[in-house]
Amino acid sequence: MNPETDTGHIIEQKIDSLLTRMTLDEKIGQMTQVRHFDDISEEDIAGKFIGSVIHTQGPLPGNTAKEWQAKFRHLQELALSTRLGIPMIFGVDAVHGQNTFEGATIFPHNIGMGATGNAELVEKAARITAVETQATGFNWVFSPCIAVPYNEKWGRVYEAFSESTELTETLTKASVIGHQGTSLKSKRSVMATAKHFVGDGATDFGVEGGETSLEADDVAKRLLPPYRVAVENGVGSVMASFNAMLGVPMHAHKTLITHILKGAMQFDGIVVSDWKGYSRFGENDVINAGVDMIMAVEGDFDMYQEGLKRGIEQREIPVERINDAVRRILRQKFRLGLFENPFPDSTLIAEIGIQSHRDVARQAVRESLVLLKNQNNILPLQKDLSKIVVVGEHANNAGLQSGGWTINWQGTTENYDGATTLLQGIKNLATGQIVYDVDASGKHGDADVAIVVVGETPYAESFGDIGGEMDLYQLTLTEAHQKYINTYVEMGIKTVVVLISGRALVTTEHIERSDAFVAAWLPGSEGHGIAEVLFGDYNFKGRLPHSWPKSEEDYKGKYGPNFWDDTVRPLFPLGFGLTYRMIN
Ligand code: BGC
Repeated sequence: MNPETDTGHIIEQKIDSLLTRMTLDEKIGQMTQVRHFDDISEEDIAGKFIGSVIHTQGPLPGNTAKEWQAKFRHLQELALSTRLGIPMIFGVDAVHGQNTFEGATIFPHNIGMGATGNAELVEKAARITAVETQATGFNWVFSPCIAVPYNEKWGRVYEAFSESTELTETLTKASVIGHQGTSLKSKRSVMATAKHFVGDGATDFGVEGGETSLEADDVAKRLLPPYRVAVENGVGSVMASFNAMLGVPMHAHKTLITHILKGAMQFDGIVVSDWKGYSRFGENDVINAGVDMIMAVEGDFDMYQEGLKRGIEQREIPVERINDAVRRILRQKFRLGLFENPFPDSTLIAEIGIQSHRDVARQAVRESLVLLKNQNNILPLQKDLSKIVVVGEHANNAGLQSGGWTINWQGTTENYDGATTLLQGIKNLATGQIVYDVDASGKHGDADVAIVVVGETPYAESFGDIGGEMDLYQLTLTEAHQKYINTYVEMGIKTVVVLISGRALVTTEHIERSDAFVAAWLPGSEGHGIAEVLFGDYNFKGRLPHSWPKSEEDYKGKYGPNFWDDTVRPLFPLGFGLTYRMIN
């Protein structure tokens, strides 16, 4: 007999037995996810039979991983004190390492991982993320984002691997396997979430949570394949998306969630809503469409639980739907081994941010760098140049080099524990004089080379959209950053530009003007890795995960330049990337 099937069979029997004993309130509790502060009182964790807790950012009792674990252990004890003692699952947005915990290893965002094209490396990074996430008290991550972004105006382009469906499929598999390991029961594994189902990156004009006006065939061909791969590789959960699909909010899209994801693809895990998904997208329609657990946060808790109960009592929601939702949630709790082993493992704490983890992150940084131009083989740089000037605030700020979802939801503009910056990396490797001219006002005309680091300041969802409601960002470099480049180019200094950004930016003119141009994406905590490639310890390997735009005009249309308008030609195609000739 196949032991896996047998285990599965036993789990289903245990669920049957629990379902016959559970009251309606207990079932509704399982279908509820709250934050560990603000949303409800601690007492209600047990009193309302809460199924899951989410941490985003915000107060924890202390700063050490031991204190974090203690907090979640305490909440778990409350859950275990209930009549049926059903453990909770603890979820966190660990989307490039355990990025909510200062001192963890922070990997390049997925766009950079996409540039590496290295599935083995993506798997390793996810394994490490799983360990560091478990070490801080969580067993569930809301990652990977497997969007296929079509428009660089979307402020979440960097959360996804690539505009290529095929590359996204390959790296999705690696990420799911990396996070979940060979057994979810291991304390070195976490449950992964494929998100956001579906069409998040393909909204018209790249608006977060906007309208996706793609025909079903295109959705099937371009957007669904990574989900099929995630499901085939056992992904534990799928998160519904904020966007609407041809007018129907995805949270209430029964055809896609119930018929396609759960039916045709045979997904047997949890469909979790996104932030306040119940109140925002049609309340009980969301449950009827197939969403199993609701993020009932920011004041939604009571209205969700009451609304759901009313819906069941008034037969708006069939009891079978509730039982299916609870079954899926319990199934994952059994698969995670939480009934036998509900608490975090304190021995893992010692592994947070350790050198061997950082080495993998640094390798990812090196392999993610895409060389777009290298005139007269200016790269690699000699380590013994007599004077190097390094320009730009992004050159020496770990927060700026890491993007959104780092320490805070929208990222940070400060340095954080354990990270190295590019400037530190340069100082470690080069033997001559290094001067830091943060805003190009120093005008070091005697430098042999200027390394000018420009880019975007951190943003996450909504805030990062271009041309949307907030409109804080642009498709080009800021004027100040253009000036940094121009100042040194105009002085006749050889200029190497490193671009730190969550998306391809329109930089045609600056690529032309500079001697070398490197797309470094959002490298995370190991900025040193960039220096290792600039100075020739390693060659460039990265390949563009998105085609590179040539003008802002290219973005006037509904979609990106890549699939939809044959008349738009990118400056560099998907997959482009130079290497330099190695010199001894
Ligand atoms: C985002 C999700 C994230 C969730 C929980 C939402 O606003 O869209 O990607 O997992 O918040 O923080």
